[in-house]
Amino acid sequence: MFILPIGPTNRSEVNTLLQKSWGDLTMITQNHTHYLDQLPGFVYQKFDSIQGIVTYSIQNQYCEIVSLNSFDQNVGIGSHLLNKVIEVAQQKTCQKVWLITTNDNLNALKFYQKRGFDLVRLNHNAITRLRLQKRMIPLIGLNGIPIRHELVLEHRLDISHPYS
Ligand SMILES: CC(C)(COP(=O)(O)OP(=O)(O)OC[C@H]1O[C@@H](n2cnc3c(N)ncnc32)[C@H](O)[C@@H]1OP(=O)(O)O)[C@@H](O)C(=O)NCCC(=O)NCCS
Repeated sequence: MFILPIGPTNRSEVNTLLQKSWGDLTMITQNHTHYLDQLPGFVYQKFDSIQGIVTYSIQNQYCEIVSLNSFDQNVGIGSHLLNKVIEVAQQKTCQKVWLITTNDNLNALKFYQKRGFDLVRLNHNAITRLRLQKRMIPLIGLNGIPIRHELVLEHRLDISHPYS
């Protein structure tokens, strides 16, 4: 297996996989629109197959994970990609790595909190408002839970983590 940067040789395949996973190549987080097909990121590649993708955006020493997908869950792919972004953020002397997930994504909440991320904010009804713009966002999400809120998680790089 390899972790490779997203670049000209794999961009088209990455875009297809991201479109299939998220239904759209634009991602709006905290009122900011990201274009997934233009973001830096990494793929987890096994033989010639992409098994996972992470994209990120660095602004003002804050590194946002915009998307993370594992296409073969529970074998370590998500952790490898997450660690790769943390490594890049450290190299670029970022103060933190942060991300948004939604209130239905209990798996992501568990995943990130077990990996040194802290739940720092709930943007109440942010998804309900976003749905007025982006009608394709389903009402019911993972685990049968209504999707309503953004949850902000962050992993600070400028302090030590007693639990990670
Ligand atoms: C959240 C997500 C990225 C996690 O990816 P993943 O590849 O399943 O993550 P990992 O395999 O590294 O870790 C998941 C679990 O598998 C376990 N695991 C990893 N390697 C393992 C192995 N070889 N054998 C057994 N278990 C293993 C880990 O311990 C972990 O459990 P834990 O969280 O209780 O510690 C994935 O579920 C996903 O793509 N979800 C859909 C998209 C999404 O919601 N993205 C996040 C919001 S941006």
